[in-house]
Amino acid sequence: MSTSEASNKTEQGGDIVRLIVSEHNEVKELFDKYLLSKNASEQEKIVKKIIHDLLVHETAEEEVVYPKLKSFPTGQEIADSRIEEEKQAETKLKELQKMKADDPNFSSTVEEIIRAVTEHSMEEEKQVLPLLREHLDVEQREEMGQKFMEVHNRASSEIS
Ligand SMILES: [Fe+2]
Ligand SMILES: [Fe+2]
Repeated sequence: MSTSEASNKTEQGGDIVRLIVSEHNEVKELFDKYLLSKNASEQEKIVKKIIHDLLVHETAEEEVVYPKLKSFPTGQEIADSRIEEEKQAETKLKELQKMKADDPNFSSTVEEIIRAVTEHSMEEEKQVLPLLREHLDVEQREEMGQKFMEVHNRASSEIS
């Protein structure tokens, strides 16, 4: 087992930057799985997981990461733009949640979400994570990681 695999498996908290990147990668894998799948019921299952995981991830970012980011000198504007993207994604995800898999708009809605969320995650990795590295020391990033996981676990049981 490689070092990165080992650390992912034991990561129940840990550095917020690594946590966010690792969740982005997990969601990207689900997107690829969906796009490669030819089986409608398998696609439906993957989409359910995508909706759940994204709603949980964005809730934890909004409660734990963005309020802190806003306190950094250049953080406010970046936070506002990313939160706006999250709100739009959440609206689309909830629309999708109500759709049946044979709805004519199902796949176009999934693809729209995939494009928007991929773009959003890239912006976070380019703009948000560097600010967290710059303004928080290792201990503070671990503390934020722990809070992130607390909200994550709560949201995960609340969101169907
Ligand atoms: Fe986000
Ligand atoms: Fe994110």
